[in-house]
Amino acid sequence: MKKTDRKQKLIFPKNFLWGAATAAHQVEGNNLHSDWWAWEKKGGGTEPSGVACDHYHRFEEDFKLAKRLNHNAHRLSIEWSRIEPEEGKWNQEAIEHYKRVLESLKHKQIKTFVSLFHVTLPLWFAQKGGFEKKENIEYFKKFALLTVSALADKVDFWVTVNEPKTVIAGAYLQGLWPPQEKNKLLALRVYRNLALAHKGVYRAFKNEFPGAQVGAVINMPALHYHGHRILGRFVPQFVRFFLNHSFYLLTGDTHDFLGLNYYLFHNIRLKDLTTKYTKKKLEQTMLLERSDLGWPIYPSGIYEALMSLKKYNLPIYITENGVADAKDKHREEFILNHLQWVHQALEEGVDVRGYLHWTLMDNYEWAFGFKPKFGLIEVDFKTQKRKIRKSALAYSKICKENAIVL
Ligand code: FCB
Repeated sequence: MKKTDRKQKLIFPKNFLWGAATAAHQVEGNNLHSDWWAWEKKGGGTEPSGVACDHYHRFEEDFKLAKRLNHNAHRLSIEWSRIEPEEGKWNQEAIEHYKRVLESLKHKQIKTFVSLFHVTLPLWFAQKGGFEKKENIEYFKKFALLTVSALADKVDFWVTVNEPKTVIAGAYLQGLWPPQEKNKLLALRVYRNLALAHKGVYRAFKNEFPGAQVGAVINMPALHYHGHRILGRFVPQFVRFFLNHSFYLLTGDTHDFLGLNYYLFHNIRLKDLTTKYTKKKLEQTMLLERSDLGWPIYPSGIYEALMSLKKYNLPIYITENGVADAKDKHREEFILNHLQWVHQALEEGVDVRGYLHWTLMDNYEWAFGFKPKFGLIEVDFKTQKRKIRKSALAYSKICKENAIVL
């Protein structure tokens, strides 16, 4: 065999977690008491979420597929608006539902990551000002404590807050998500309050359930700057710090692990920092392959993010990484290329312990609606039929072998 024909096998550490991530509102359907539901009813976003993937009723079928695909970990979120549809009124049936969901995963020996705040809020909480008001954090803490008391023995990893930066960008800077504000000061206040909410929940959990593993999930786009030569010396560092690491500065040592979401490359231009991606701006970024959403695919960015997290000396889980790819033409390579860079980071001493692909099945992608197809499993939203994509089978082999072959 010629040297170039020889396949290279990169093995991941023992007990590495492999799976997929989801979020309640994107898959469950009929989250009638959330701020997003109310917003969609008023015409917000491109289309309403409706029954979504009807995962609320079909979770068993979906988890069976995950198991068949050799996943040994799964990330989901608990919908606060189901647990507390009205202020102070706890819905026991919803709590029992999530017990069944988590037991189903446990029964299949699938480790669980559970997020408490993943984009949606109960409508009553949003109407009180949501995280805009510091005093409202107490409501979130109450919900979190009630949830941990009911579910602690069924959850392996708790995520307090998902992507605080995306929340403030979508809801408070770009005005694309409810409450559709465009207010920099308010955005900063919400960001600070999310950090306080994380800290508060972390400490409360540690008091009541010292063994609970608690962290937050931060998304870290690869940020490069191709502008002015002198500015180029400090702009990227500053922007990277502000966008990717400031949450850790605000929350200090209240993390048992770090959750990393990584999707794309972003070419920094000073005046773009607070504005949304537009087609024109995307055309100005480098000539990289793009997902169906136009997001530039840049696998080594996951390595850059992981290396920048090394200094915190904590276990890291990749809690989301995926691609909108309806035709499934990039996904297999996307996964392989990103995992190759994850492996490189491991070799350089970064303590990465798991990879959760976004996402298990096609879902409701927030303001984009159902159009972007991120799923390992295809969903026909008319019939709710699930169909495993080819790339899901390739990923399933990786999960089984705990290795990638290049
Ligand atoms: C992330 C969100 C997740 C999903 C992916 C595509 O920012 O956390 O819910 O929408 O983007």
